[in-house]
Amino acid sequence: MLNIAVFVSGRGSNLKAIYQKVPKEKVNICAVVSDRKDCPAINFALEKNIPVFFVSINQKENFITYSDLIREFRKLEIGLIVLAGFLKKIPDEFVDAFENKIINIHPALLPSFGGKGMYGMNVHNAVFNSSAKVSGATIHFVDKIYDNGKIIAQRAVDIEDVNSPEEIAERVLKIEHELLPFVIEKFADNKIVVVNNRVKILD
Ligand code: GRF
Repeated sequence: MLNIAVFVSGRGSNLKAIYQKVPKEKVNICAVVSDRKDCPAINFALEKNIPVFFVSINQKENFITYSDLIREFRKLEIGLIVLAGFLKKIPDEFVDAFENKIINIHPALLPSFGGKGMYGMNVHNAVFNSSAKVSGATIHFVDKIYDNGKIIAQRAVDIEDVNSPEEIAERVLKIEHELLPFVIEKFADNKIVVVNNRVKILD
């Protein structure tokens, strides 16, 4: 059994996809972590009785620090941390504590359209304005630099005929909801390995 924690900041559609699509006999969502008290993703976690933690780099009432979170996750034996629409940068201390155990989903084909400030509709607006003919979703390891870690999986979508950034967002989101559960299940099956400096997903 792989114990995972999912970090969210907003709508939570990827959290829902993970909950619905990843087999419960392989993966247990032990915690949902957010920087926001009130968002649809948190409401979903509470509905499903998943323990919720609020995290902040500053000392705030009812929020815990990343150092506390590291301790909690060690107790819970968390084996994989999934950033699914989490908008804050993860502090270096936390990245060091869970090396190669933190993954992020990005709504474009990295290494293009990534980096600081590239989140949500900013990404899809940039893709639209570039006139790119494909976009897609990327899942990568998290290191200390925004959207920089090794790419684990990518899936592309044709956007040649779109009329708006919103249409791109819609097409990419559909792919995200397939790709993220797929990758998490592969983690649970120990099918994700690094070979020749590249990440491979075994059958
Ligand atoms: C997704 O597009 C994800 O790629 C990005 O933020 C969005 C989160 O959506 N990192 P949701 O909260 O999972 O619905």
